[in-house]
Amino acid sequence: MSQTRTVRTRQEMDQKYYETLVQLIRSQGYRELAAATVFAEALHLVPGLAFKKKVLQHVNEEMEHFEVCCELYRQIGAGDLEVVASAILSERNPIPRIESFLELGIAQFLYDRASAFQLREYENCSFDPYCRIVGKILEEEEGHESFGAEIMVEHGRDPAQRARMQEIFNKWLAVSLKSFGRPGTPGNRYAISVGLKTRDSAAVAQEYLDGLRTVMRLSGIVFPTREELKRLGVETSPDIDLRL
Ligand SMILES: [Fe+2]
Ligand SMILES: [Fe+2]
Repeated sequence: MSQTRTVRTRQEMDQKYYETLVQLIRSQGYRELAAATVFAEALHLVPGLAFKKKVLQHVNEEMEHFEVCCELYRQIGAGDLEVVASAILSERNPIPRIESFLELGIAQFLYDRASAFQLREYENCSFDPYCRIVGKILEEEEGHESFGAEIMVEHGRDPAQRARMQEIFNKWLAVSLKSFGRPGTPGNRYAISVGLKTRDSAAVAQEYLDGLRTVMRLSGIVFPTREELKRLGVETSPDIDLRL
């Protein structure tokens, strides 16, 4: 299957392409559901009606993104993603709970951004129905303006909060980086060869990290080391650049 070929239906896919696609949509569905869940659970930490409504709208949009993933999953004959993603979230890969408003900001800044970032990779992928829904989701993700960044910068002004903030940052950076998947795997190479992805996970993750620096500097936050990330369960590429 060549990179330029456009695929529209299940009949046009061989088994490996199909399985890779199922895996991609499943991961995306999981991320959308995880984002909706973690932000919804944190609603009681959000001050003020206006802000609460904003968070709820965000939750609602993530739910809709999940819904379109479920539809696509069903369309290609992969089954019920609602059941599958819910099971992953409650058993295999639960998302950590948010315990403060600051943590909500950091999680939004890191996790939501990571999820939008990964989607951009599929904007021109070889499975045409996926490109279409990704385009629509991305438009909404752009509307998820980074209130997280504002919360971080605000809290970063207080040196007494920095250590705690760094700890929460490391935790959510690890969760976010894990969502990019392991770098350099045969699965990555295959997905690139059939046009489902354009780059290895390591390259996508690096670009994501590069985009965090401005807000990190303004908040007095640094990147954890590769070793720290490893302790938090993240496998990174040896060439990863974690300099500020
Ligand atoms: Fe989303
Ligand atoms: Fe989002």
